[in-house]
Amino acid sequence: MTHKVLLSLLLSAAGLSANAQSATSRSQLCPTPPMGWMTWNLFKGDINEQLIRETADAMVSEGLAAAGYKYIFIDDLWQGGRDIHNNIIPDPQKFPSGIKALADYVHSKGLKLGIYSDAAQLTCAGATASLGFEEQDARTFASWGIDYLKYDYCNAPEDSATARQRYHAMATALQKSGRDIALGVCEWGQRQAEEWCAQVGGQLWRTSYDVRDMWKDVVKQGGMGILDIINVTAPLASYVNHTQWPDMDMLVVGLRGKGGPSSDLGGTGCSDTEYQTQMSMWCMMSSPLAMTNDLRKLTPADRRILLNPEIIAINQDSLGLAAQRKVFNNDYQIYVRKLTGGRHAIALLNTADKPLTLTADFAALGIEGKHQVRDVWQHKQIASNAKRWKGRVKPHETIVLVIE
Ligand code: GAL
Repeated sequence: MTHKVLLSLLLSAAGLSANAQSATSRSQLCPTPPMGWMTWNLFKGDINEQLIRETADAMVSEGLAAAGYKYIFIDDLWQGGRDIHNNIIPDPQKFPSGIKALADYVHSKGLKLGIYSDAAQLTCAGATASLGFEEQDARTFASWGIDYLKYDYCNAPEDSATARQRYHAMATALQKSGRDIALGVCEWGQRQAEEWCAQVGGQLWRTSYDVRDMWKDVVKQGGMGILDIINVTAPLASYVNHTQWPDMDMLVVGLRGKGGPSSDLGGTGCSDTEYQTQMSMWCMMSSPLAMTNDLRKLTPADRRILLNPEIIAINQDSLGLAAQRKVFNNDYQIYVRKLTGGRHAIALLNTADKPLTLTADFAALGIEGKHQVRDVWQHKQIASNAKRWKGRVKPHETIVLVIE
């Protein structure tokens, strides 16, 4: 009898499967912010297995996978109800080969597959959700080879205690499934999830209502622009550590006003400078990076922003901290983030509608001494033995420096 067989016999006598035993502790499931692509903002319910396969192909052929983007997150409206045994099933028109075959394909490319459900009977878009079926659905997701679950909170009670209990129920079910499946808490920053996400077994928590393809909510219809989300997330930096990430919602980079749900509520599109700011600040804050543009149709501007290895390295820095906002006024904001190797990243964000000349005085920002300064969007070292940086910042632009 081999050791493996003996172990299985012992574990099954104890009521456990070998898989359940080997599941990673939940706190270690996302050691850096997850990076990938999510279906919702552009495609909404217009999704199918062909789209997922072609997106997986593009993730590899465009060099996105090599740059760190590993997940394909299937959002709402994949569901086809439950079968006679109450097993959740995919919409047979959209996913005729089933999710397991799709996961196998995605995995064969070295990528991971995420899926979506909700802590109520119905999802936000009115599809079948998981309340009361947590263990059964978690087992189904595990059997398909799912790696990540975005768990939404539509149609659920307002209070925080119930939210905590429902997220905990799903995290426990995922853990018992025996497969490593990360859990994204999606209650839109309304119940202080930063306080309890780790305790209930989640790895990231949404900080805001849904992102729209806009700079800020000038029409006051409740959608969140890039700057709105930066402003609600900045005060949460101290909750970030190398296991817990603030989910600032999907990247709208490259949507240019063409994106399904992200084009609602004034989401008429952003400039490339504003998309650069989104990428900069999502990376500075250690947010997950979920692209939503059509990866089969990338432009050079999309590639420049999404594939910048230097800004991605800040997002994935293994110290796993978020940037602290040091300066905040009506015209600009300055952030500092500690990086490995005693380095720092500094972001200067011009929130005004006019160009500004800004100064980052390193000592005033808590970084003593003289330093080499690298501009991560220009990809070059711009100073050595420097005690400050001074320069022009365009309206809505973010300059990111690495100080060494
Ligand atoms: C929202 C969620 C979005 C998207 C949508 C699907 O609640 O914030 O990111 O998942 O539901 O219906």
